[in-house]
Amino acid sequence: MDPITNGLMQKLAEAGQSHLLQFWKDLSHEEQADLAAELQGMDFQEINGFFKSAMETSSSSKHEKMDTRMEPVPREVLGSVTRDRECLKSWEAAGLHCISQSKVAALLLAGGQGTRLGVSYPKGMYDVGLPSHKTLFQIQAERILKLQQLAEQKHKIKCCIPWYIMTSGRTMESTKEFFSRHNYFGLDKNNVVFFQQGMLPAMDYKGKIILESKGKLSMAPDGNGGLYRALRNQGITYDMERRGIECIHVYCVDNILVKVADPAFVGFCVQKEADCGAKVVEKTNPTEAVGVVCKVDGHYQVVEYSEITLATAEKRSADGRLMFNAGNVANHFFSLSFLRDVVQKHEPRLQHHVAQKKIPYVDAQGRLIKPDKPNGIKMEKFVFDIFQFAKTFVVYEVLREDEFSPLKNADTQDGKDTPTTARHALMSLHHRWVLNAGGHFIDENGRRVPAIPSLKDGTDLPIKCEISPLVSYGGEGLEEFVKERDFHPTLMIDEHRVHELVKNGV
Ligand code: UD1
Repeated sequence: MDPITNGLMQKLAEAGQSHLLQFWKDLSHEEQADLAAELQGMDFQEINGFFKSAMETSSSSKHEKMDTRMEPVPREVLGSVTRDRECLKSWEAAGLHCISQSKVAALLLAGGQGTRLGVSYPKGMYDVGLPSHKTLFQIQAERILKLQQLAEQKHKIKCCIPWYIMTSGRTMESTKEFFSRHNYFGLDKNNVVFFQQGMLPAMDYKGKIILESKGKLSMAPDGNGGLYRALRNQGITYDMERRGIECIHVYCVDNILVKVADPAFVGFCVQKEADCGAKVVEKTNPTEAVGVVCKVDGHYQVVEYSEITLATAEKRSADGRLMFNAGNVANHFFSLSFLRDVVQKHEPRLQHHVAQKKIPYVDAQGRLIKPDKPNGIKMEKFVFDIFQFAKTFVVYEVLREDEFSPLKNADTQDGKDTPTTARHALMSLHHRWVLNAGGHFIDENGRRVPAIPSLKDGTDLPIKCEISPLVSYGGEGLEEFVKERDFHPTLMIDEHRVHELVKNGV
């Protein structure tokens, strides 16, 4: 072994990770160089420290104790699009004003691996099979474009919503390439900022890093809470400051209905002078895979679906609703000053959560083993773990059918959160937009389709209707194209169709 490797051997020995070089002699020169470079760049003392404290905090007795410390979100921090309907216009106006001043940024968390969906490319590139075949990235980009336009029209001033996109080592290149191939979907490329989150090794229960092949460590992104370290390491908060950003809407890639930089949510948080806010939908099924926003020991927190006991998830209030029903849709609001504090001061205090996983590994003989039960852990920080540091925290409740349909799993019959459920959710929302704007649908016999679609062959198929975000951000402005008109499905309204509809008159 050369001196570099000798130095490495010592570093590994001190950290109890010497086994990582056990197949050194079997590797080609190139593989040796790659492995040495990867190991040189790692801080094993830090990783061992993460392991120790993550294992300590994840013991199940602590979870049980946490259940007894949980309290629901108090009414006074809650705003609701249904119960506070009279305030909606003013929240929306406040948010749109901030957008027109170029004070609002969108930040997309897109560093996940999409394991459950089972695709090898970034989830944002997924096409759920809409009539337009737009991908999640395109839909989001077009919502940003439209929102900029709405703010500009209302306030007669040019503005921009910078879009920060967090990727991981696994998704960075393909994401960037996809955006560049699609010409940033019409956005100015200077306002689309990619940055990369960190990775952590998978470890066995004794704290030994797992090798996925003789010369390669099993690595995974460090969770969506890796955001804060990435923001610091890559100077992103300075970029925000330089652009004059004051509010940031952080959201996950997989929700096809996401209202990117939602002016009503932003306006609500700004009017409440909140430094941190979370959007929620009512959780109605105790076992639904969403975290719940609540208080633990007096501090706001999301208790993740994997971390709550069934007994607590099933608790009901006097009105029959779930007691912990503030379902986290992974849409968060942060003021820049709060984010800066988190990045500079609080980030090291965030604990990693432990996920027990079946992690493929090479055994002492160098054979690849695919375990059939969990054999180790992955460590992840969670984006919402900073709620506890907020001075003014608010919760904003929206309607699930208008704003939340995540894409998590591949299609199976009766599957939840699949490409089919996402596609149907978007088309039924757009169907409702057309009805609300005074349009109608007619079937193949020329009869009006009832507003609530009937069951056809036992399957509840939505009307095929898709409205481009470039035409409408949230259902607004459709009357002039659809009022008192009859449409045959499939209806697609995009910029071209709009011209046609206007030309042909109503
Ligand atoms: C997430 C929320 C959960 C919420 C649910 C709603 C977290 C930790 N959990 O759960 O409370 O109810 O969404 O759909 O936020 N990501 C990264 N880097 C990573 C891991 C994930 O950027 O290392 C991104 C993904 O690309 C995705 C988002 O974070 O955009 C959510 O990740 P996912 O693993 O799908 O979270 P869920 O478990 O579904």
